Amino acid sequence: MLINKNMKLADVIHHDYTLVPVINRFGIHLGFGNFTIQEVCKEHNISTGFFVIILNAFHDPHYFPKERLQSIRLNILIEYLQKAHTDFLEDKIPEIAFLIEKMPGECLDDRKTYLLIRNFFLEYSTELKNHITKEEERVYPYVLKLEEAFLKGETDADIKKQIQDYPISAYEAEHENVEEKLFDLKNIIIKYLPKPKSDKLCFQILREIFSLEKELNEHARIEDLIIVPKVEAMENALKLKGFGNG
Ligand SMILES: [Fe+2]
Ligand SMILES: [Fe+2]
Repeated sequence: MLINKNMKLADVIHHDYTLVPVINRFGIHLGFGNFTIQEVCKEHNISTGFFVIILNAFHDPHYFPKERLQSIRLNILIEYLQKAHTDFLEDKIPEIAFLIEKMPGECLDDRKTYLLIRNFFLEYSTELKNHITKEEERVYPYVLKLEEAFLKGETDADIKKQIQDYPISAYEAEHENVEEKLFDLKNIIIKYLPKPKSDKLCFQILREIFSLEKELNEHARIEDLIIVPKVEAMENALKLKGFGNG
């Protein structure tokens, strides 16, 4: 199903409830009555086109309109990515950590396996946090500044320095696949749990990990396939201009 602006948002959620955290990122919360996507976007002052693309891209992993996404301003894309970062760190990670803490009482007698899972996840959380901090402190501010410089057609010494010292290609080369490691964690739970007392909690944990993995994938696709080429083109354009007068 391709989601379009004339659909009622409630119908879309009935069809795919996993979109709830995605719409939350735009400041839209449950209780939207019978309003269409277009009406809800208008009320929240959101670009309907961008909202519909994100819903579709999240709903269908094969849908990814590169060109249309590339026509969207970087500041809008970055704002969306930043909200996703907040979701990962403040919502998803604590939720999974909370569920793992419950394992010894509810599903696992074997302390060694519990500690293995717990430590693995702790390490993973730290890695993800470092990944996000680097993007928020170093990469995203640069992207925003670069877009401004590009639109104005002029650069300052700071931008000039960063284009030389840490261009977006350097970020791309170092950009780790943070979702890959979750596969190992899923495997410990799926393959190697020594006789769990009950599968209920493990299922909950798996569901949360699969959902985080899906969101991280979607997120990285925007970073790698939209942000990187868009920024690269802007860097090249500014370089051709001889860095403006900066
Ligand atoms: Fe990110
Ligand atoms: Fe990333």
